[in-house]
Amino acid sequence: MTVAPPPIPRAPGSLPLLGHAIPLLRDNLGFVAALRGYGPLVEIRLQPGQSTVVVNDPPLIRAMLVDLAPTLDKGRFFEKMGQLLGDSVVTAAGSEHVRKRRQLQPAFRHAEITRYVDIMRDRVTAAVSGWRPGEVIDVREAMVRLSLDMLAATVFSGSIDDEAFRRLREDLSVVMNGVGARIMLPDWVERLPLPANRRFTAARDAVRATIDTAVAELRAADRDTGDMLSLLLRATDEETGRPLTAHQICSEILTLAVAGTETTASVLSWVLYELARDPAVDARVQEELDTVLGDRPVTFDDLSQLPYLARVIRETLRLHHTGWLVTRRTLTATRLGAWEIPAGTEPAYCRHSLHRDPAHFPDPLVFDPDRWLEDSHRRAASQLPEETFLPFGAGKHKCIGDRFASAEITTAIATLTRAWHLGLTTDRPVRPVARATVRPSTLRMTLRRRNPAVSALE
Ligand code: HEM
Repeated sequence: MTVAPPPIPRAPGSLPLLGHAIPLLRDNLGFVAALRGYGPLVEIRLQPGQSTVVVNDPPLIRAMLVDLAPTLDKGRFFEKMGQLLGDSVVTAAGSEHVRKRRQLQPAFRHAEITRYVDIMRDRVTAAVSGWRPGEVIDVREAMVRLSLDMLAATVFSGSIDDEAFRRLREDLSVVMNGVGARIMLPDWVERLPLPANRRFTAARDAVRATIDTAVAELRAADRDTGDMLSLLLRATDEETGRPLTAHQICSEILTLAVAGTETTASVLSWVLYELARDPAVDARVQEELDTVLGDRPVTFDDLSQLPYLARVIRETLRLHHTGWLVTRRTLTATRLGAWEIPAGTEPAYCRHSLHRDPAHFPDPLVFDPDRWLEDSHRRAASQLPEETFLPFGAGKHKCIGDRFASAEITTAIATLTRAWHLGLTTDRPVRPVARATVRPSTLRMTLRRRNPAVSALE
């Protein structure tokens, strides 16, 4: 006889029309972390009438992301992104997702990443060449600009001129910020005649127009510029056998900018924060860079020769993960472990909370890159079940940009920290805040020149 599992508890604090809006507004990360105490599954209300089941148990998270992936829709956040930016690999589910993913995959192959690293490094060098010793900068803002710059340059480096590139970057930046805010708001807010809404629509239309022109020109000239846009022009739609339309290409690029900029920028900001907080970690990173690079700039082949920096980045992806609630939606009644979840439910999980769970990571709030060492006396973190550490997700929706992002972050840290030391302006700890991604509240840092020999390369 099988014993029925206990009913899924509902987290306390829900109100009839507001659901859990109040505890979420007060401290969304704290609220979600506390949900671990209610067991493997716990229900919360993000919207009236919409049940969201937060999955706390790693094997069940894996079941949701991997085993059940073909039968689940992507849920509210992704649908909203589709309405705003057009359908893309990020918003699609089922067979449409498989098709879109295959079209995009060639742009993220190993061979392409090896070429992108030089473009990324040049953008970092250009960005920091405007820095001045003693200047205090808003690091998160600087890293968002840098990440967008690196992504836009890999997509368009050969396809548009400098002036069009500059305008495109500005417009993409408005779109990116606007999507983050709009995903959380009801649809009618977007239709209000507000300046912010007009700016968002104008910027999105301008991006579409620039990409339409670039696509038309490249097609007419039958030119391969070697950038990501050229690769997307060669992709075909499996169903029709035809090349992608400019509209499809544009929707993919807009969503790549959203998926790949804030995330990378937050990780870069947190790495710089942790290096500033612990001079010993900073010194070990610099020692490794000195040994491997000497005075020359970083290249793709160097990236795998920097194991300590790799652990620093891995530990940052654990302690400061950018992932807030990721949702899916059940289309029919669905079995998740011992529980049957009704159709229309949104299962969700929070990587930020998963990666700070003391059940899996001893002293979870301590930043310790060496917890990832194979020969650690503690239970090596690398021996944990793989579903306890999911920096790039799992299953068929796993981040398509995982190697791109790792290359980008390593290249940026190796390049900018060799020339510049970034110091904290206050002893107060920086808090994580969850908006579209989990990012540092405010991070202002003071610039100091570090290595004159390397600075001379700028
Ligand atoms: C450190 C930086 C990044 C992190 C932590 C990250 C994390 C993730 C995660 C966890 C997912 C899975 C979401 C889900 O389960 O629904 C995802 C999906 C995705 N990411 Fe990233 N990402 C990063 C950077 C990037 C970059 C640089 C790009 C592109 C240039 C990118 C493009 C995408 C796309 C297109 C998807 C959707 C994949 C699909 O559904 O098939 N990401 N990312």
